[in-house]
Amino acid sequence: MPNTPRNSRISGFHRMSPQERRDTVAGFAGLDAAAVERLADTGNLDAGLADRLIENVVGTMNIPLGVATNMKVDGEDVLIPMATEESSVVAAVCNAGRQCYETGGFTTSLSGTLMIAQIQAVGVADPHAARLRILDRRDAIREVCDGCDPILLGLGGGFRDVEVRVLETAGGTMLITHLIVDTRDAMGANAVNTMAEKLAPRIEEWTGGRVYLRILSNLADRRLARAHAVWHLDAIGGQGGGEAVRDGIVSAYQFAAADPYRAATHNKGIMNGVSAVVLATGNDTRAVEAGAHAYAARNGSYSSLTRYEVTKDGHLSGSIELPMAVGLIGGATKLHPTAQTCLKIVGATSAERLARVIAAVGLAQNFSALKALATTGIQKGHMALHAQNIAMMAGAVGEEIERVARALVERGTVRIDVAQAVLGELRGA
Ligand code: MEV
Repeated sequence: MPNTPRNSRISGFHRMSPQERRDTVAGFAGLDAAAVERLADTGNLDAGLADRLIENVVGTMNIPLGVATNMKVDGEDVLIPMATEESSVVAAVCNAGRQCYETGGFTTSLSGTLMIAQIQAVGVADPHAARLRILDRRDAIREVCDGCDPILLGLGGGFRDVEVRVLETAGGTMLITHLIVDTRDAMGANAVNTMAEKLAPRIEEWTGGRVYLRILSNLADRRLARAHAVWHLDAIGGQGGGEAVRDGIVSAYQFAAADPYRAATHNKGIMNGVSAVVLATGNDTRAVEAGAHAYAARNGSYSSLTRYEVTKDGHLSGSIELPMAVGLIGGATKLHPTAQTCLKIVGATSAERLARVIAAVGLAQNFSALKALATTGIQKGHMALHAQNIAMMAGAVGEEIERVARALVERGTVRIDVAQAVLGELRGA
């Protein structure tokens, strides 16, 4: 009998209960009862809430939540909740925080809590004159925007400015209106998108063109979070002394600043820390990542988000600057109970404080990665936890995990075939 091809056109899937969806998916994918049961265990997120947060829910995806210690940000000690599946990420922040703790930790700032919404108008006959017509209507624009969100207005936020760009594209000249909006403790996507949609008919009226897109920009360069720290030579020490570590880190930064291939990895390491806190607090990881990478390429060539230099006393000075569109209200931040707990752990009572702490975490992460790379390499630090993962993949359970992992590290070969062999030997014994 030929196999009947599987059909992904499942009628009414979105109307099913999560259990009905799980059963349907199990039939499609050949899941056994144990797999379906695991999917049904939604852990610390209520199944009903999960089902309302996104569409077609069948379960939740749990990943480890760690807490980084040793961090001092703007003179205040802070614990950092980090949700990540990658080993060494939490340890990296703890280590970097420890090595600058005595010299003051991290000092941070935020350029503002302004978000940008874009309105794209095409087919405008006189784009330069139309630009001025829009700019002349600043008060009318303010009225439309502020009318959208009285709560934001009450919190001191709202419309701040309008800018208009004449953009040459493959499809001809476009007129791009930017609404600059202070979204305060909200990430602000909903607020600015509503404003852009509301204003669009007026833009058509004033320009005689046609509006297509009305959406925020994730290049949130009016919401730049900055952090700075000084690592003293005696605190960074290590092989070859503090000078060698310092010079290795500065050279690693110079490499990333000059080479997009290296900068991509360098910034990925920064985002290991940043995204882990963004996720733990229920914020939008993709928004922050898009903003960071676009900002890293703002000068036309993709480059490093951090900078390192040597202070006049010979110590290592590190700094970071990146867009940080995070909020405390709205979406999963407010609804996910673990996100709420994480906000309590980090002690952020404003979106500004959260953004600043996250920038410090990004810098901390980068410092530790560069220090490891410029000295012993990262594999040594990775190996202990990685060996445990490999042991589990080889089938080790309970106490076997630690014993197999230790054997792998001792042999200096952390590979699944070696883990299987070690496990075989253990069980045989
Ligand atoms: C690994 O997830 C991150 C690093 O590659 C970052 C870097 O190379 O700077 C270690």
